[in-house]
Amino acid sequence: MALPGHQPENDATTPSRPGPALRLRQPLTEDGAAIHRLIAACPPLDTNSLYCNLLQASHFADCSILAEADGRLLGWISGYRLPADPTTLFVWQVAVHPDARGLGLGRRLLSDLLARPGLADIKTMATTITPSNEASWALFRSFAKSQGAAFRHDAHFERDRHFDGAHEAEHMVTIGPLPSVRAAA
Ligand SMILES: CC(C)(COP(=O)(O)OP(=O)(O)OC[C@H]1O[C@@H](n2cnc3c(N)ncnc32)[C@H](O)[C@@H]1OP(=O)(O)O)[C@@H](O)C(=O)NCCC(=O)NCCS
Repeated sequence: MALPGHQPENDATTPSRPGPALRLRQPLTEDGAAIHRLIAACPPLDTNSLYCNLLQASHFADCSILAEADGRLLGWISGYRLPADPTTLFVWQVAVHPDARGLGLGRRLLSDLLARPGLADIKTMATTITPSNEASWALFRSFAKSQGAAFRHDAHFERDRHFDGAHEAEHMVTIGPLPSVRAAA
C-alpha cells in the first residue's frame, strides 16, 4: 500500500487531500483496544495487557502517538519520560502495521512525536532493541542520522540474568543530544 497523504499532528494548516488522510495524533483511552490488537499483529513485540495499553493511552498520552487512516490504526509508539531524567524520552514500543511498513511511517511517528511543543525540552531518546530485530535497528539508526544525533548502544537486559532464559537480550540505545529544532521525517 502507499501511505495516504500525511497530516502532521502539529500542522493544523495542511489542506486535506482526497482519499483517506493519514492522521498522526495523541492517543485517547478509546484507542486502547485497537492499540492492543496492533501490538498483537506486530511480532516480535511483547503483548502487554489491554489495561497496560489503556494506561499508555492515558497517563503517557503526551509521550505516545498513533497514526490512523480511514479509522484504521496503522502505527503506534508508546513512550514516557525517564523518571530519573525527564529530559530523556524512552520509547517503549514502536509498531507499524505489516501493510504500512517500509514507507517511512515509523520514522514519521518518531519525528512527529519529538516535534510536539510539550516535548521541546527532550534532549535524548532512548529505547531497547533485541540484537536480531534488524528493522528496529535500521529505524532508530535512520532516525538518529536524520536528526544529526549520535547513536550509542550497550547491553542492558540480559537473556539469563534478567529474562530467566526466556527472552532475547535487549540493548539500550541512546540517541542524542537531539537538536532543539527537530528535523522532519
Ligand atoms: C520496526 C518497524 C516499526 C519499522 O517501521 P517502518 O514504518 O517499516 O519503518 P520506516 O519505513 O520508517 O523505515 C525506517 C528505516 O528503516 C529501514 N527498515 C525498515 N524496515 C526494515 C527491515 N525489515 N530491514 C532493514 N531495514 C529496514 C528503512 O529502509 C528505513 O531506512 P532509511 O531511512 O535509511 O531508508 C516495523 O517493522 C514494525 O512494526 N516491526 C514489528 C514491531 C517491532 O519490531 N518494533 C520495533 C521494536 S520496539
